[in-house]
Amino acid sequence: MFSLKKLDGLPEGTEVDILELFTKTTLDVIGLAAFNFNFDALIQPNDETRAFEGVLEEFSNRMKKYIFLPRWMYLNLTSSGRNFRRNIDILRKATENIINKRLTQLKDQKSTENTSKDMLDHMIDACLDNDKDISKISMTALRDEIMTFLFAGHDTTSTAMTWFVASMCQNPTEQEKVLQEIDSVIKTEVPTMHDLGLLTYTTMCFKESMRIHPPVGLIGRESITDVEINGTVVPKGTFFGLDIKASQINPNVFPDPEKFDPSNFDQNSPKATTSAHQFAAFSLGPRNCIGQQFGLLEARTILGLVFKKYTFKLTHPEDVWTAFGLMSKPKGGLKVTIHKRS
Ligand code: HEM
Repeated sequence: MFSLKKLDGLPEGTEVDILELFTKTTLDVIGLAAFNFNFDALIQPNDETRAFEGVLEEFSNRMKKYIFLPRWMYLNLTSSGRNFRRNIDILRKATENIINKRLTQLKDQKSTENTSKDMLDHMIDACLDNDKDISKISMTALRDEIMTFLFAGHDTTSTAMTWFVASMCQNPTEQEKVLQEIDSVIKTEVPTMHDLGLLTYTTMCFKESMRIHPPVGLIGRESITDVEINGTVVPKGTFFGLDIKASQINPNVFPDPEKFDPSNFDQNSPKATTSAHQFAAFSLGPRNCIGQQFGLLEARTILGLVFKKYTFKLTHPEDVWTAFGLMSKPKGGLKVTIHKRS
């Protein structure tokens, strides 16, 4: 299933970029789960898959090199901006195809009340007026919602899973406990919801890995009124960058903040992370992550299945850094060798 399809075909000790593998996996998962669309990124990367990579890469380039350039200048006068637009156009067309295909199916059914609805059906329902006339749907609104979902729903989870692999390689004692838990819980080819609920130590390690390496390191907000912060009035319309990573490695809360300590998430321990502000990897407030539960389930499923069969070794253990960009990914990906468990 998914990543395993790819790993199973590789000889022992092969070097892979696990970030790339997971990113393709999660794109396939979100496409199928939410929109019943198979990107087939893992097995047969196509223009759309490359366009996703291109958009994310250029967005990071913009943050690094062109952050102070006005949007129109960036988009029209830089090669990065033109590349960004070209890739966005490919994705807009692909998304419109997904929508049109579904709208045609719905028109043929003469009703949106089909039995099992996926995310796309719900999004279409939400865009319908009272008269339920499909032809009046705003294609742009629907397309943009879907693209937000596709972007927000795959790169985040794959980055979190990649940091989990790095954390396991760097903390063999914790990995051993995770492997024991996975072996005792997952007995079938596809884990059940019940199984996933029993992966408590694995989940603690996953969250601890996200505390030290939050996939989204920085979020932005704009003040809608003048606000006073510590005696300074910040005018309406000011853009704020909120550093999630800094709040999660606050030494006042975590005395040894860079130490990988899963007990930070042990609900039976007095020192467990209790305040939402201590762990904000899924953000806070009304615009926080709506895919949190999905992401956690997906990660536990994929990691459970992968670690049931394989362990990994970092190819360059001394060279694991966080790259600056939209997502806090390992710089240059994460190169590991794969090892079949006996
Ligand atoms: C480990 C996995 C994930 C992490 C760490 C994560 C993190 C985040 C963060 C930090 C935000 C808030 C951005 C902000 O406050 O400005 C966000 C928003 C969002 N996430 Fe996630 N996410 C994950 C998985 C997912 C998945 C699997 C989906 C979809 C199934 C998803 C869908 C969304 C959407 C649609 C938003 C935008 C919500 C809005 O603007 O109202 N995320 N995510």
